[in-house]
Amino acid sequence: MPGTTETRTGLEVNGTHHTLVLDNRCTLLDVLREHLDLTGPKKGCNHGQCGACTVLVDGRRLNSCLALAVALDGSAVTTVEGLADGDALHPVQQAFLDEDAFQCGFCTPGQLCSAVALPAEAGAAGEVLDEAAVRELMSGNICRCGAYPAIVRAVLAAVS
Ligand code: FES
Ligand code: FES
Repeated sequence: MPGTTETRTGLEVNGTHHTLVLDNRCTLLDVLREHLDLTGPKKGCNHGQCGACTVLVDGRRLNSCLALAVALDGSAVTTVEGLADGDALHPVQQAFLDEDAFQCGFCTPGQLCSAVALPAEAGAAGEVLDEAAVRELMSGNICRCGAYPAIVRAVLAAVS
């Protein structure tokens, strides 16, 4: 319809269905943070360069700052808030704790979501998740503090 700037959009976020009327220009990151109060996904660069906003969409990782929410109508989104099973941390979250894989933690939600998606991603590509593969596949997630050695240890511990 000419002049229409909003679209009714259905998203399942961390297991809960939401019907939202969204400005067509709204990114998934802004919907999560501003409409649904899920502030785990961080706005670092807002340009697809840092990975701080990484979430899972239908099980695959996505830079949510680059995705228009209305284009994801009907999708299932998992943010860092949805990784744990009640009080039981996701194995990747537990490994990050065990390996001390964060300092300021700003990048950590995106690192966690990326790490959770890695086994399926590597499996589909027929790739073995060794240290080199983890470093390459996690290279879109930037940590300003330099926690990379511990992050790699944690990811390898979680997938082993
Ligand atoms: S905030 Fe999305 S990649 Fe940096
Ligand atoms: S822990 Fe500080 S940016 Fe990653």
